Amino acid sequence: MKVFSTAAEVNEHYSNCGLMNPGFVPTMGALHEGHLSLAETAVRECRMVAVSIFVNPTQFNDPEDLRKYPRTLDADLQMLSPLLREDDLVFTPTVGEMYPEPDNRVFDFGNLDKVMEGIHRQGHFNGVAQVVSRLFDIIKPSRAFFGQKDYQQLTIIRELARRYYPGTEIVSCPIIRESDGLAMSSRNRRLLPSHRERAGEIFRTLVAAAAMIKDYDPVEIKEFVIDRINMIPDYRIEYFEIVEDGTLAPVSSRKEMSPDRLYYACIALFAGGVRLIDNIEVRLR
Ligand code: PAJ
Repeated sequence: MKVFSTAAEVNEHYSNCGLMNPGFVPTMGALHEGHLSLAETAVRECRMVAVSIFVNPTQFNDPEDLRKYPRTLDADLQMLSPLLREDDLVFTPTVGEMYPEPDNRVFDFGNLDKVMEGIHRQGHFNGVAQVVSRLFDIIKPSRAFFGQKDYQQLTIIRELARRYYPGTEIVSCPIIRESDGLAMSSRNRRLLPSHRERAGEIFRTLVAAAAMIKDYDPVEIKEFVIDRINMIPDYRIEYFEIVEDGTLAPVSSRKEMSPDRLYYACIALFAGGVRLIDNIEVRLR
């Protein structure tokens, strides 16, 4: 595997090995099994793979969150090296390389960035769109692999690609979980032991919520979820929504839902000072 930190080096590598348009896995590092599963899928399906590691400042609305974000480049490269092949590459740009001048582009994704994370993390998806489009411009991927874990992000990236990168196929990869169901996340390592111990409750609550759709309306399920999460000591729910796949339109009654459509129940919460998100598929039948 090769490690490059500039766009010029990436382009030179493309000419040297006579390959381009790789399968692409963008990350912010602090890699775990979730990230690795994306890279493994990409390696299985693409002749050449690029993984990027870049903590993008423009998608953090909270400077403290950006400061505390784990940066573990050496360990990350060690995890990738057994997986990636000779011509596969890791792209580790500096902030200056990614943003030679401030990126003032403003993206509007309609309803997609006005719900859930879009409400609670103002400007977050604009920053994600800025960095992903810049990364796509440099890497020029034929396919890009994103985790279902960040379901709203995945939906917005699909729209970004539809508008500006029709040559890049967006591939969705399943959520990788710990044995108790906690979705893997770089933030999990910041959980206090007492908070980590109860974190399996998040996924169990989502599973229960998805099953409740047979007998209850989304508004009732929402009350159940809020109560159950807020009952865990030091846990505080931020939002719970059941949204229609693709449009992210929130639904409040089963009358608004179609048996032929797919929905996702999405949750954000604080476990102590650590913000976690997760989601699960919901079907009427
Ligand atoms: P990051 O949080 O590092 O995640 C990188 C990719 O890994 C995303 O597509 C995310 O959905 C996926 N991922 C994270 N945890 C996962 C899990 N438990 N199972 C499966 N996939 C998982 O998302 C970002 O970085 C950034 O916003 C980025 C797209 C790189 C732009 O900066």
